[in-house]
Amino acid sequence: MKIFYVKRIFLCILFLVSVLALAQNKSERELILIDNDWRFSFGHLYDTEKDFKHAEGYFSYLTKTGFGDGPAAKDFDDRAWRKLDLPHDWAVEQEFSESGSFSHGFKTSGKGFPEKSIGWYRKKITIPETDKGKIISIKFDGVFRNSKVFFNGYYLGTEQSGYNGFEYDVSAYVNYGGENTIVVRADASMEEGWFYEGAGIYRHVYLQKTNPIHVAANGTYITSEITNTTAEITAEVSIENKGNYKGSVEIIQTVFDASNQQIAGVSENVNAPEFYKTDKYTSKLQVNNPLLWDIDSPNLYRLVTQIKQNEKIIDNYETSFGIRTIKFDSEKGFFLNGKPVKLKGTNNHQDHAGIGTALPDEIQYYRIKKLKEMGSNAYRCSHHPPTPELLKACDELGMLVINETRLMGINDYHLNDLKRMMERDRNHPSIFCWSVGNEEWNIEGNIVGERVTNVMQDFAKSIDPTRPVTVGISSGFKSGISSVVEIMGYNYLGNGDIDAHRNQFKNQPGMGTEEGSTFATRGIYFTDDAKHYQSAYDRKPRPTFYSIEEGWKFYAERPYLAGMFIWTGFDYRGEPTPYGWPSVTSYFGMMDVCGFPKDNVFYLKSWWGTQPVLHIMPHWNWSGMEGKEMDVWVHSNCDEVQLFLNKKSLGKKKMELNSHLEWKVKYMPGTLEAIGYKNGKKVLTEIQKTTEKAQNIKLSIDKENIPNSKVLVVTAEVTDKNGLHIPTSNEEITFSIKGGKILGVGNGDPASLEKDQFIDAVSLVQITNFQEQKGLTADLPQEFQNYPENDWKTAFRDRDYKNQAPSYVYKGEFDLKNNSALNKVSFFYKKIGVEAVVFINGNKINPSSEDSQKYILDSSILKEGKNTIHIAATPLQKIKDWDVLNIDPGIIQVITPAESWKRKLFNGYAQIIIQKEESADEVVLSAFAKGLKTGILKK
Ligand code: GAL
Repeated sequence: MKIFYVKRIFLCILFLVSVLALAQNKSERELILIDNDWRFSFGHLYDTEKDFKHAEGYFSYLTKTGFGDGPAAKDFDDRAWRKLDLPHDWAVEQEFSESGSFSHGFKTSGKGFPEKSIGWYRKKITIPETDKGKIISIKFDGVFRNSKVFFNGYYLGTEQSGYNGFEYDVSAYVNYGGENTIVVRADASMEEGWFYEGAGIYRHVYLQKTNPIHVAANGTYITSEITNTTAEITAEVSIENKGNYKGSVEIIQTVFDASNQQIAGVSENVNAPEFYKTDKYTSKLQVNNPLLWDIDSPNLYRLVTQIKQNEKIIDNYETSFGIRTIKFDSEKGFFLNGKPVKLKGTNNHQDHAGIGTALPDEIQYYRIKKLKEMGSNAYRCSHHPPTPELLKACDELGMLVINETRLMGINDYHLNDLKRMMERDRNHPSIFCWSVGNEEWNIEGNIVGERVTNVMQDFAKSIDPTRPVTVGISSGFKSGISSVVEIMGYNYLGNGDIDAHRNQFKNQPGMGTEEGSTFATRGIYFTDDAKHYQSAYDRKPRPTFYSIEEGWKFYAERPYLAGMFIWTGFDYRGEPTPYGWPSVTSYFGMMDVCGFPKDNVFYLKSWWGTQPVLHIMPHWNWSGMEGKEMDVWVHSNCDEVQLFLNKKSLGKKKMELNSHLEWKVKYMPGTLEAIGYKNGKKVLTEIQKTTEKAQNIKLSIDKENIPNSKVLVVTAEVTDKNGLHIPTSNEEITFSIKGGKILGVGNGDPASLEKDQFIDAVSLVQITNFQEQKGLTADLPQEFQNYPENDWKTAFRDRDYKNQAPSYVYKGEFDLKNNSALNKVSFFYKKIGVEAVVFINGNKINPSSEDSQKYILDSSILKEGKNTIHIAATPLQKIKDWDVLNIDPGIIQVITPAESWKRKLFNGYAQIIIQKEESADEVVLSAFAKGLKTGILKK
């Protein structure tokens, strides 16, 4: 083994050589994002006719290899399918309905909607001849759910989980030097969670190319031991050999710091694994004076793993990692790098306003920044493995993470999921704890729970001994899982006696994995059950649940509890407790689904954050309520706060730790002002002012956006003539955009049934009652003829292929729901003859200029209801007896253009998520509403 340090010059040269080699051989491993240009269509859960006849064939894809049929077949004609880019969530695109799922936010897709539960995706890619000999794989970060994947008609496998990443080696099936087809059939008919989960390919997809000898998928594991000023890094790498090479390879491990300086390296000659085997190799490296990964300074390093064979670099694999220590102490709580850190956490699901689960990477950063801004330092991925980019954002921004697997059990289904999550994620420094389950009511309090936890816990340790394991427990903290779990996860104070449990298990550290579940609607200060609005004052929501303040005080006062995770940071779709339809999102969030803060955010900022805070609630626009006594609350971390109404003092009050202040104030328009004092000195002033009437639409880019990002989160609001934000405005705003597109709109109203997205509707209309007549000559008619009515018979039935007529005329019908001139209607013809002439309602149609088998049908020749199509064609001939000739004439596609994007403001705000076009210099978003001055945003 050779070890080299940066200070030694000769070894520096060695580094340079290897880095140069690295640059030259970059093509040895390629990871190509293939999110763009997919085709999509709904299939059907059980009606194979509507599922494009998939799996109807005499031989199925399970009986004979390569026999993927229907859309799974390589040559399936998908020209009429909708074009889209990933990430995609088809659930969020649907309407809401009372018959939808409560837990999934009442969208008309998935469970209970067989025609909206199967999504087919198809994509064509070219793979050059020069890739022969490489291992080609398709890598999915996650598909919801139960996905079957085909490549050139070959079935690759089924992934049940909607949350695991997976990849398939397709090297053997590739058409080198030509076109290849990837097909995914996602089946979202079952729910894995009791919260909104979206549907479809909602995470990234990659094409990956490697040498036969390569770092295996998720094949690195980096741990570190810190002694004094040095970190000893253990870099374990799994290398897979999918080739016949026998002999030695060199493994070069190099550490780079955040400024790309090489700071440590080691190389070693080893025997390559045998054919189709994976072997593990471990190297030790030393990093002097490491910059530790911390919440405030999330320092990261990069390990570059290279494999060298016969003096040539054949693989180059990068792993981001951090150096830090973590420790739970049953007396003193959690320690990061030896320093106590109280966990100020939130639970979150992964959907967002307007876009469902299809979050562009930028939105992950946006959300984590919002949580940090609130003073939060920890995030629990409830209740499933997250998107890789979420963890990347947590690593880079400094947010601790509990990573959670979906289901408890000791079988392959459960343990394999856990293993894959851990192997994928164990290099992220942000992850400080694995959670192997949540509220498994059936087993929580009994011996089965104990047994299952013991297995899962030990199994987790065998994959990553460096992090502890927890389970979120809710039904009493007395026996079962709570007796054996390493870190006790208390779900809610009201669910048991935390102190009593702790007294019994003094050596078991603990944290509140869920606390809160309070109800609040942003900007609402009087509960209105008829409207499904919950007031935003932090009050005890239900007899056995506690307010955020009560919860935080409990955890803050107990050093042995490592901290708490609020249910939840953001509102999410589904679980609209305490209401039901027509509420479609939760009320639990500290922020709404867009990330607009509810007032509790300022309570948390006061006691979780580090900056001085002063916040008055409610707003001061209560026209018609003059003289009514209002509850005025102030959230602040000042020592004292004085409140004034129209310059008249309402008294100065002392703030208690982790508390808030209250006044009763008779409403009178004007200015409510708070002054915050620290050590007797004025430090902050805050006002709530009665506004004038609405005048302008204001658009602004949220400050949590990533600089120069292509995806922008825009806030729409309305201001009065003085530019004051109007907290009660609920106007509907219409948007238009140039140089980009809108991805989704939202406003945080849990009871809004407005559309999240305005996208063109693509519908496919079948040609039915397809009949034929023989033609006398091979000359095809150029004018529509009157064909004898009695001569029509079912097309292609009993066709004698050895004695076909010189030509045939076919007739079919298709139904149009309407014949709006705005619709774009096309006939995608599939060859049923050598030559063909097409007539629609008796009018001859010429093929389009872009595609000789596509006919654009103008509304002037179409009608609402039944339309007829005639195709005169010279027949296709069989070459071999067993040839199967196409008898499907094709399909009619109707594109109904979407209406303009629009959204009502909800208590003053709406959010628009936009994506800048790659090539555009500028994106311009305009916002209109009757009677208001147009808002324009240029970026
Ligand atoms: C918990 C559960 C969460 C959520 C929450 C709502 O019991 O773990 O997923 O359902 O209740 O209060």
